[in-house]
Amino acid sequence: MNAGELLSLCKRRGFIWPSFEIYGGVAGMYDYGPLGTVLKDNIISMWRNAYKKGEGFVEIDSETVNPEQVFKASGHIDEFSDFVVYCQGCNEPFRADHLVGDLHPNPDTLDAAGLKSLFVENGVRCPDCDGELGEVEEFNLMFKTNIGPGSSRVGYLRPETAQGIFVNFPHLYRYNREKLPLGVIQHGRGYRNEISPRQGIIRLREFNMMEVELFVDPEDKGWVRYPTIKDETLRLVPEDGRERSITVSEAVSEGIIANEVLAYFIWFTKDLLTRLGVDGERLRFRQHLSDEMAHYAMDCWDAEVLLSYGWTEIVGIADRGCWDLTQHAKWSKQDMSHFKRFDEPKEIERDVLKAKYRELGPLFKGDAKEIARLIEERALADVDNGVLKVEFNGEMLDIPENLFEAVTVREKISGEKVVPHVIEPSHGLDRIFYTILEHAYRRDDDYTVLSLRPEVAPIKVGVFPLMTRDGLDTKAEEIFRMLNDAGIDAYYDDSGSIGKRYARMDEVGTPWCVTVDYETLEEDRGTKDTVTLRDRDSSEQRRIPVVNLLNVMQSLIKGEDFASL
Ligand code: ATP
Ligand code: GLY
Repeated sequence: MNAGELLSLCKRRGFIWPSFEIYGGVAGMYDYGPLGTVLKDNIISMWRNAYKKGEGFVEIDSETVNPEQVFKASGHIDEFSDFVVYCQGCNEPFRADHLVGDLHPNPDTLDAAGLKSLFVENGVRCPDCDGELGEVEEFNLMFKTNIGPGSSRVGYLRPETAQGIFVNFPHLYRYNREKLPLGVIQHGRGYRNEISPRQGIIRLREFNMMEVELFVDPEDKGWVRYPTIKDETLRLVPEDGRERSITVSEAVSEGIIANEVLAYFIWFTKDLLTRLGVDGERLRFRQHLSDEMAHYAMDCWDAEVLLSYGWTEIVGIADRGCWDLTQHAKWSKQDMSHFKRFDEPKEIERDVLKAKYRELGPLFKGDAKEIARLIEERALADVDNGVLKVEFNGEMLDIPENLFEAVTVREKISGEKVVPHVIEPSHGLDRIFYTILEHAYRRDDDYTVLSLRPEVAPIKVGVFPLMTRDGLDTKAEEIFRMLNDAGIDAYYDDSGSIGKRYARMDEVGTPWCVTVDYETLEEDRGTKDTVTLRDRDSSEQRRIPVVNLLNVMQSLIKGEDFASL
């Protein structure tokens, strides 16, 4: 299939529409239509249930416009850029690494000079007009704005939802009663001023993210449910580039995946994606090369799916180490650490600074006590060339080393402060949405079926009267209302032949259809108050009493096999 075919179905049937189309549209911007909005919400619900109900994570919803300090601290202002090159002929901008995909195994790892020399060596020209390409330049992907009138306070639209979780860490940590692990999820918009978005909803300028930040003790990267999945298989492409299918525990014991918690959430991502309808045969996990990794990551695995566009990242699972919390602690001067209690208090020896009261008294008179306190709250490491700087009454004082001494003290401590490490599965919702559609798409002899999983399908059941007379339509409307009232998304259709109505439902992925026919009304054939229920994937039909319909639908949505009815 080609993506154009599916995108045209999506447009025609109300899944997605190019934004601002009446004004000519804007590249990399799409709106979700009525069916798309429900499908998107169903994906979010399954993701939310998996993490909140399955793993006990909590959810937050933070601001999309953030002040500049957040992204200075996070490194996005300095580091979050791609390389752009403009055509000298038509002036069109291109993402430089995307022009050399066939010429290098991983162009993401190249810098501006590396990209430029590949262009020169291979005579790469503008793909649109064959014009000459200019210099390769760095381009920051964040959208900049002002918060409030004037330019007094610079802000940025968030390029990831993650920072909203990191800046709220002190609140979240208290909410979790100061315990680790602490898992937090957030979904919402992310904004990236992508250089040249050309692949439908795969590369958007405003997109939907479902992000998970798991804060763990840096010395304890195990996971309580790891033993339950350690024998499951993963298809991995580690840094060495050699693809293999191995068990989770082999991947950990051979050092391919660095720790159990990362391995668990790689498997968890596979499980969630396949339950959403991603084809397991077209899913693999690829480890980033060290020079390809985002500035914050210690390790990263991408869930990649095979699409008509080629292998495409849909989820990034990163070990962000202590990068974000350390940076925000430094920039905000707030405590972003976890107090890790020992099982038993420990006795330790520690070098501390002790003020020499006898020397301080004559020099500082009434202030000597306060100066002594300021000296003693500092650490030995703060002494620079025999001088300790302390701030007193808004002024920096140089305290020479004859006024204090280093002494070793023994003390009992009940724990220590550690900066939590973060494991982050970051899901691109739009890319998952598209993958589910593409992997569900079948077209034979001009007949299209979307085999969407029942849990994500935007319409669960079509309800049809065979004819719009003789009370069939009234009965069908009653059934339609009963199903909708029970929270089962139903769609009423009474136009055209039954075959046409099935075709309309198959094309949007509706798993079942109910038809009210004359047998529904007949007393003497023993079929009174029964309807036909038709299964999309097998085209089989069963007669079901209307009183049982709700229960039957609920168990089918939960996964019961139609053949067992
Ligand atoms: P790519 O290399 O394709 O640009 P990325 O490595 O920049 O992606 P991440 O920064 O890891 O992507 O973002 C997390 C997830 O968000 C990705 O796995 C992807 O699914 C999604 N994503 C990233 N950028 C976009 C975009 N411009 N449009 C739609 N989804 C995106
Ligand atoms: N939060 C993951 C990313 O934006 O890359």
